[in-house]
Amino acid sequence: MSLQKVSLQKLFPFLKDDMKIKKIKVRAPATVSNLSCGFDVLGLAINEPFDTVELELTETGRIEIDDIRGCNTLSRDPAENVVGPVLRAMVTAMGVTAGFRVIIEKGIHPGSGVGSSAASSVAAAFAANLLFDNAFSSSELVGFAMEGERLASGSAHADNVAPALLGGIILVRSYEPLEIVPLNVPPELFCVVIHPEMEIKTSVAREILEKEIPLTTAVKQWGNLAGLVAGLFKEDYGLIGRSLIDFVAEPKRAELIRGFDRLKASALEAGALGAGISGSGPSVFALSRGEASARAVMESMSRVMHGEGVGFKAYLSPVSSQGAVIC
Ligand code: HSE
Repeated sequence: MSLQKVSLQKLFPFLKDDMKIKKIKVRAPATVSNLSCGFDVLGLAINEPFDTVELELTETGRIEIDDIRGCNTLSRDPAENVVGPVLRAMVTAMGVTAGFRVIIEKGIHPGSGVGSSAASSVAAAFAANLLFDNAFSSSELVGFAMEGERLASGSAHADNVAPALLGGIILVRSYEPLEIVPLNVPPELFCVVIHPEMEIKTSVAREILEKEIPLTTAVKQWGNLAGLVAGLFKEDYGLIGRSLIDFVAEPKRAELIRGFDRLKASALEAGALGAGISGSGPSVFALSRGEASARAVMESMSRVMHGEGVGFKAYLSPVSSQGAVIC
């Protein structure tokens, strides 16, 4: 996958060389980050849900959020909404006095653990880049979108924004300097996500983590991380499954999610390769080999949720090869 710039005329063949677009609507998908063993460094994109951002380029120098649809808890103040710092950083990097009018449509519930802030941040960055005549590379867009994550959670992690932008399964090999590595996606890999109707703030879920981990724990964790990456490239589903273990975040975060142990056990009993917390939760993900197996896993996990008496949404998706796209 190329992380290079793509010509605007390639995306819009009807545009003549000197034509500029002023308004655009794009969407960016939900993402499952960490994938158990890859805290802050691994994530994958799924087909749905997704956020949509409509941007209009203005000359006011102001970022104006005209509307946020599908969610009444997010602020329209650009200093408090993730799109604000993303667009501000891009305008500054361009060295222009441009402004934007923004309409956000939230398909992804904030605090769900499937990259809600990342999807809005990425959609804003991707849309603004098209209005700026594709001035920035994908890697630079990831950097801008991370500013949204910094506002939302106090931490500029890239494990949701990178797959939301690029699709597929992404490794953040390094933060300084930022190095984003697309990984192989085995064709039969399917993902189930159960989103319980509760909210966990990423900042809270990060606060409860140990700041240092013992060497013995680190050895187990990086063994699994390397095992998962190897399993993806070898398309060895058994190795993928054995590697989906988290010794770092899950032991601390599991208690925040009602019924987590039962949910995970039900996924494994139904044949999942592995299961764990999606991002900082409360969503729980499971990876399966083949769609039929994933469907059985989703049904089994759904039964547990009905038993818990907690409302929830369930999603089943292949790993999405699409990240941010024009609507
Ligand atoms: N890697 C981040 C975390 C993802 O686990 O805190 C947050 O969505």
